[in-house]
Amino acid sequence: MSLRTISVLGATGSVGRSTLDVLRQVRESGQFDFAVEALTANKNAAELAEQARAFGARVAVVADEAALPALKAHLQGTAIEAAAGPSAIVEAAARPASWTMAAIVGAAGLKPTLAAVRNGGTVALANKECLVSAGDLFMAEVKSSGARLLPVDSEHNAIFQVFDFERPERIERIQLTASGGPFRTWTQAAIDAATPEQACRHPTWNMGAKISVDSASLMNKGLELIEAHYLFGTPTQRLEVLVHPQSIIHSLVSYSDGSVLAHMGSPDMRVPIAHALAWPERLATDSPRLDLAAIGALTFEKPDTGRFPCLALAQAALADGPAARSVLNAANEIAVEAFLQRRISFGTIASVVGATLEASAGMNCWRSPSSLDDVAALDFAARRLASTFIAEGKG
Ligand SMILES: NC(=O)c1ccc[n+]([C@@H]2O[C@H](COP(=O)([O-])OP(=O)(O)OC[C@H]3O[C@@H](n4cnc5c(N)ncnc54)[C@H](OP(=O)(O)O)[C@@H]3O)[C@@H](O)[C@H]2O)c1
Repeated sequence: MSLRTISVLGATGSVGRSTLDVLRQVRESGQFDFAVEALTANKNAAELAEQARAFGARVAVVADEAALPALKAHLQGTAIEAAAGPSAIVEAAARPASWTMAAIVGAAGLKPTLAAVRNGGTVALANKECLVSAGDLFMAEVKSSGARLLPVDSEHNAIFQVFDFERPERIERIQLTASGGPFRTWTQAAIDAATPEQACRHPTWNMGAKISVDSASLMNKGLELIEAHYLFGTPTQRLEVLVHPQSIIHSLVSYSDGSVLAHMGSPDMRVPIAHALAWPERLATDSPRLDLAAIGALTFEKPDTGRFPCLALAQAALADGPAARSVLNAANEIAVEAFLQRRISFGTIASVVGATLEASAGMNCWRSPSSLDDVAALDFAARRLASTFIAEGKG
């Protein structure tokens, strides 16, 4: 493979660190040459500077302007440019790169990821919220720019590897597997009273706080159904969730002749990241190998939307259309943040999201967003509503 220019948006997060670990292996083994253009973070200036030094990045950017003095201090004596602010993140993402990892968490990743898409290179997409919030507009930008979008979310990366892009009409059903999260076997009362520490203790994956809470509520799987709808153009009624606690099978695609193609792998994000980094080739990495004899049994269950109402809310938003999906995402981000700050209980997350969806449906803003400004307006309105429900204890 020839020299590549690589940027990592959200470099200091769980996916960002795993990406840099795969890149370290690539560099040490000499599998291909690359130069790092931009690395970004929110406020973790010390780690970002260390990464930028280790990879000789051209620019390091923090979203939080208050973190700029620390970033500059940590980069002293290097030629690495330092910048700060949300628009500086977008500018960094817009710098020419042949491969960009989009791993900022939340809707904050939308504008930077779109900037990378508009460059027309390859974008490895971890940030699912930008598709949930603005999927139609996002996919239209992918098409018009000629960018190559490669899914990194393990389920979508799995589907990508077994999806018959020549004959999508032969696909009857796509099942996204879900570990079931830390509360899979808990009672409703115990789930409702769960703490942030309990919610973030995922049984099979090691992830950032927001996606860990989403996994515990099964909202993550709902967001992933919406993500799959946009990435693969699959009709909403053909998308299902299957609980599979071992997280070995990442997704299953069923065809019209009765064949079911499933993708397996150890629950380690470095596997789909390495796939997206090398596609259509394959890298050699040291990720843990799958030992099915040691695992012994793979089990499956139907999801329980009674105990996990966030999944039902996301399924309803998937069926309702783009505006409902934007509102769902924004309200969930506000509710998860409030839960992590111990301002609401775990059980209240679903109540806040449900109340916001219901209240938005009766408002003028409830229409299909036809521009990014429309999405921003919907997102803003939903965040304000969700915050009001939380402040008034009405969730
Ligand atoms: N973790 C996984 O295994 C996994 C798997 C599949 C998909 N994903 C998706 O990948 C995305 C990242 O997840 P993660 O677990 O890696 O999250 P994470 O560990 O919380 O990391 C988030 C990254 O985004 C940065 N960031 C946060 N807020 C920002 C803002 N407002 N502007 C710019 N940068 C910001 C953070 O910087 P600081 O460090 O400075 O805060 C950090 O670099 C999410 O959309 C998630 O759903 C994650």
